[in-house]
Amino acid sequence: MPKTIIVSNRLPVKISRVDDAYHSSPSEGGLATGLGSIYKQGDNVWIGWPGVEITAQDDRDQITAELKDLNLIPVFLDQEEINQYYEGFSNEVLWPVFHYYASTYAAYKQSNWDYYQTVNKKFRDMILSVAEPGDVIWIHDYQLLLLPALVRAQMPDVSIGFFLHIPFPSNEMFRLIPWRSELLEGMLGADLIGFHTFDDVRHFLGAATRLLPVSSNANIISNGERSVVIESFPMGIDEKKYASLPLQDEVKEQIGLIKENFKNKKLILSIDRLDYSKGILQRLEAFQLLLEMCPECKENITLYMIVVPSRDTVPQYAHLRDEIDKKVGKINALYRTMDWSPVHYYYRSFPIETLSALYYSADVCLVTPMRDGMNLVSKEYVASRINNDGVLIMSEMAGSSKELIEAIIVNPNNMGEVCRAILQAINMKPEEQRRRMIPMRQLVAKFNTSHWVKIFMDRLKEVKLMQRSLQARHVSNTTEQSIINRYIKTKKRIIFLDYDGTLVNFKSNIDQASPDKELYNIINKLAEDPANQLVLISGRKHENLDSWFKDNDIYLIAEHGSWFKQQGTSWHKIGGLSDQWKHDIYPILETYVDRTPGSFIEEKTYSLVWHYRKAQAGLGELRANELMNNLKYLASDKGLQLLAGDKVLEVKNMDINKGKAALTLTEGKDYDFVIAFGDDYTDEDIFKALPESAITIKVGSNLSAAKFYLRNPAEVRKLLTSFARYTPAEMDVEK
Ligand code: UDP
Ligand code: G6P
Repeated sequence: MPKTIIVSNRLPVKISRVDDAYHSSPSEGGLATGLGSIYKQGDNVWIGWPGVEITAQDDRDQITAELKDLNLIPVFLDQEEINQYYEGFSNEVLWPVFHYYASTYAAYKQSNWDYYQTVNKKFRDMILSVAEPGDVIWIHDYQLLLLPALVRAQMPDVSIGFFLHIPFPSNEMFRLIPWRSELLEGMLGADLIGFHTFDDVRHFLGAATRLLPVSSNANIISNGERSVVIESFPMGIDEKKYASLPLQDEVKEQIGLIKENFKNKKLILSIDRLDYSKGILQRLEAFQLLLEMCPECKENITLYMIVVPSRDTVPQYAHLRDEIDKKVGKINALYRTMDWSPVHYYYRSFPIETLSALYYSADVCLVTPMRDGMNLVSKEYVASRINNDGVLIMSEMAGSSKELIEAIIVNPNNMGEVCRAILQAINMKPEEQRRRMIPMRQLVAKFNTSHWVKIFMDRLKEVKLMQRSLQARHVSNTTEQSIINRYIKTKKRIIFLDYDGTLVNFKSNIDQASPDKELYNIINKLAEDPANQLVLISGRKHENLDSWFKDNDIYLIAEHGSWFKQQGTSWHKIGGLSDQWKHDIYPILETYVDRTPGSFIEEKTYSLVWHYRKAQAGLGELRANELMNNLKYLASDKGLQLLAGDKVLEVKNMDINKGKAALTLTEGKDYDFVIAFGDDYTDEDIFKALPESAITIKVGSNLSAAKFYLRNPAEVRKLLTSFARYTPAEMDVEK
């Protein structure tokens, strides 16, 4: 039975050593709490670090055995690995850069990077020791960015999903990391890469296509032969659990105590792991400002602040803890009265029953991170409000603010706005509280953890099927042989060849892609066989094809079918078409050339092409979309077609396309072997126009109407060379 292997740096339980004995307790943090229920099913397992250094082999064996009963597999790290991989690279490079704190906190040390690689390999080895064909491997978070590619190298066909629980920064931040390409390549070993928000998806696509030689089509990255899908899957919580906890006796009892303790006070709750990204100091600052500005708030509001200890062996975290201590001390010293403390501060973790009682009792939940991938605390608060009351104040920098839009949304850097939000919250009428809370509760109930896991896993299955159907279409040795056999048996053949990207590799300078000797040889050999009609069918200008192929015995079709030249005759232009529309379109394209450095216009007989392959990455695509929108109505009025290709936008007469051109050569002729090779959007018209019996071959593994695909021009040349061996002259030589 195939299983799911969850892999994350930290296991959902952590081991600690107290009085020479080991104890386990639940791990903190969104990842562990969010996925907690999944690994317990069937044969599923969770691989991760138990959170402490354990050196003695006996201890390791004992802990391994105990964790096995919980479906958990430990990866033990020694102290140096903890220092350099976990504290160093993960939390002093990746965490600050991904949370936009690169300039303040990031330190790029080579030895941290070396350990990061070593430990990722350690995780790989553990996966390989338990993974079987058919298993699904789901890797989590920034500590293991290299792991997908490491596993892929050993298990090329296995399903790998990757999910990042923290924000993916804009490329301007990400590219600061010296090992940025390696990190992206590592992630692209997965089949499906998930993020919390659409912004993260955009940032990742931007970084990957700018820093690596990969191309993307919408949210799919073609990484060599494998298509990797990038999508957002906002993580949910176990809503039912949080909605039912306040009904338990133990929780009810705690709710009673809290109500009693904070009678007649508005209770403002904040819960975070110790982290500078959570904006804890800034929140205290805003709270102090509120106490200064609003005399009636004094003695009437209380900030109940839980900070869960986290990473306090990393210097910046230890420093933050000290600063929070000081700030809380200062506020309480300034404002405390005999029977009121403004801030109730706890630096420890609490059992879920206490958290539930607090969520249920707090009038306001104040969630103001400077950056947060998702933030589950906000969702837990909403789920616990079973009476549809309470107010959530939410930073716009947290992923969950994109979903919980009925919260009071604030910019956490704007102290005044945070103060006003608190005032608005404590004075909010019950009807408005309900009006806001009900839709948020519905959302949290629907998009819960099982929903999140289901849509991620379903999508991963779809991606795998898509990849496999593509693989099946690759011209493998057996397909190749059957195509060659058909070629040998037939007597009247027509072979359509596109040029750029099909016979030669795509070049960024269009004038640099002239044919080489090998290509001329292949073409000449094939043309020698009287049974073959060779047709070169290209979007290039006829002058261009003429300069390269006028002396070859082949049929030439230029500018997508506007011009044609049969062997031994001169060039002819297709009749009855107008090019008057160019007067209107050319000036519009010119304005885009003026606004987009590096772009230029190419004029053909019946088309105008705006090229942007030398424009700044991203800007060209943006302008091309704008131009498409701009020309949409004008184009259909004038009988024109807009074709968005690889770094080009072509405006051409609707009546011309390669498909129609190919049909004029095949219709009514009794060819017994029709084959077409092409690599881009214009060749799709040929693939669709040719009869069912034709062999159509796409170059490159993108979606296509073609029956088969080859990887690159080299594979096309190889197949054509095999055909050429069967020309009569060659066969005479072989005899
Ligand atoms: N949490 C916990 N113990 C506590 C306080 C909080 O386990 O004493 C949990 C909390 O319930 C939430 C998680 O820690 O599920 C924090 O997740 P969040 O996404 O808010 O932040 P992260 O820690 O992932 O940055
Ligand atoms: C965040 C991260 C998790 C991490 C958790 C706790 O939620 O996304 O990967 O496990 O914080 O941090 P820690 O360093 O204690 O594992």
